[in-house]
Amino acid sequence: MQFDQVVFYGRLGHQALTMFNLDSAQLRGARVLDCAGGPGSLSALLRADGVDITAVDPLYALSNKELKQRALADLDAAMETLAASQDIRPEFNLNSCRQEHLQALDAFLIDRNTNPDSYIAAKLPQLPFNDQIFDLVLCGHLLFSYSPQSTGGLMKEPGLDLAWHRKALFELQRISRGSIRLYPAHTIQRQASRHEYAHALLAELPADWKGDFYASAYDQGHDGCTDGLALHRASH
Ligand SMILES: C[S@@+](CC[C@H](N)C(=O)[O-])C[C@H]1O[C@@H](n2cnc3c(N)ncnc32)[C@H](O)[C@@H]1O
Repeated sequence: MQFDQVVFYGRLGHQALTMFNLDSAQLRGARVLDCAGGPGSLSALLRADGVDITAVDPLYALSNKELKQRALADLDAAMETLAASQDIRPEFNLNSCRQEHLQALDAFLIDRNTNPDSYIAAKLPQLPFNDQIFDLVLCGHLLFSYSPQSTGGLMKEPGLDLAWHRKALFELQRISRGSIRLYPAHTIQRQASRHEYAHALLAELPADWKGDFYASAYDQGHDGCTDGLALHRASH
């Protein structure tokens, strides 16, 4: 599977919680960032459950009408690529997958309409937030996924390379006072394995951060590794 750019693609809130191995009840009262939120409904679900949630994405500079068009076009293109891909199990249900993305998009558009200030246009590796203002920073389907294909990622070379990943993680650490979860931390291949950049970033963690892989129950159609990365400040 190869993409020329990061796809504007979003999951349902409960799928995102499964990706990150989290339960919304444990997040009540916490200040959480979803980076990148895409056209996903994690913000809508967490807000309804009483979580203080902010989402960031460079495409949030666009209007809801433009975002809907972009999301539908990207969904069609991604589904075509997935249907032709050897990286997905043949029995994986792409029709259900498509319906879930459409449901997520609807919930996203409604929530953004009602809470426009909680959706901020910004881009890693530089985010417009003060140091350590979030208890938890979530990052789904951006790091590792959009690394170059030669490393098991989705992007045409050069993709988001290791130098970019170092800068992006440094920025996520700067704004988090507690924890960070990154999903997936595995390659996007039929037989998925832990991504080499995830090993590299873990080995280079600053002294005040600890981290490890965790197994996620989210199924995106591969075999093998389903790991994400959970990082936390040593003092937390
Ligand atoms: C595949 S979507 C993931 C959305 C959601 N987190 C999920 O897991 O379904 C990736 C998102 O990253 C956004 N993006 C692209 N480059 C980015 C960057 N440099 N910093 C932050 N977000 C970026 C895209 O606009 C897109 O919405």
